[in-house]
Amino acid sequence: MKVAKTIDEIRRLVADARVGGAGLVGLVPTMGALHEGHFSLIDAAAGECDFVVVSIFVNPTQFAPNEDFSSYPRPVENDLSGCESHGVDAVFAPSAGEMYPDGFAATISVSGLTESMEGRHRPGHFDGVCTVVAKLFNIVGPDVAYFGAKDYQQSAVIRKMVADLDMPLRIAVCLTIREADGLAMSSRNAYLDDAERTQAPALYESLCLAERLIREGERTAARVIESVQSLLGEKAPLGEVDYVAIVDPDSLAAVEEIEGDVVIALAVKFPSARLIDNMFVEMKNAK
Ligand code: PAJ
Repeated sequence: MKVAKTIDEIRRLVADARVGGAGLVGLVPTMGALHEGHFSLIDAAAGECDFVVVSIFVNPTQFAPNEDFSSYPRPVENDLSGCESHGVDAVFAPSAGEMYPDGFAATISVSGLTESMEGRHRPGHFDGVCTVVAKLFNIVGPDVAYFGAKDYQQSAVIRKMVADLDMPLRIAVCLTIREADGLAMSSRNAYLDDAERTQAPALYESLCLAERLIREGERTAARVIESVQSLLGEKAPLGEVDYVAIVDPDSLAAVEEIEGDVVIALAVKFPSARLIDNMFVEMKNAK
């Protein structure tokens, strides 16, 4: 496995792989602190692609000034050995200066999909995500890029950016990987103290409750949202609910009457970490 710190180096590694016969190049963009969620994306890429690149870059432009950019975990050696053992061919781990040299001035902004949920609670976040992901696509030139359904809105925004800007690659979205108690894996789970960690599975529990209510025939989104909020209030009292939303899976517009597939998404702010989770509810099997 090669580790590239500069844009020139990773471009050369990918070009050499292509000359050597690599047909499909896969990219897994990450911010490091890798866990089984990330490794599931890497395994999917390794299963489909001839050459797998993982980028590890804690992207400053997607963090607001009051967020956790400086404290975000950076266990570099662990991440590299995890990549190596999952068959990664090249890691791209640039510095902030390499990605954003002095005078950097471009921004990619996707309107509409970014206005609700995470976009509303983290202004500017998706501009930072889209801009860095577009740069990574231009730097690596992958045929397929892998994202997790854990960040559902992010994956929808990236798909829209790729479609609208005719970026020549396929976006693969992989299932959310969870701990045994249902908590979605996240690099930020490490921030939780014992009491918060005990309450955190309530996020998934509340999504399961929402799915069950819909399957049992509830069609009014507001009533489902109310049930989710009251479960969270009871089982995760240390957390403050940022939002609970039921949205159309493509437009991310809020749904009032549930008729087709929906995504239920939520964010809960514990004192030590803000957690997000979501569930896709397919209606073809519903009552
Ligand atoms: P990061 O939070 O490191 O996540 C990298 C990728 O792993 C994302 O596509 C995310 O959805 C996926 N992922 C995280 N937890 C997961 C889980 N439990 N199951 C499945 N997939 C999971 O998301 C980012 O980094 C950044 O915004 C990035 C896209 C790298 C741009 O900076």
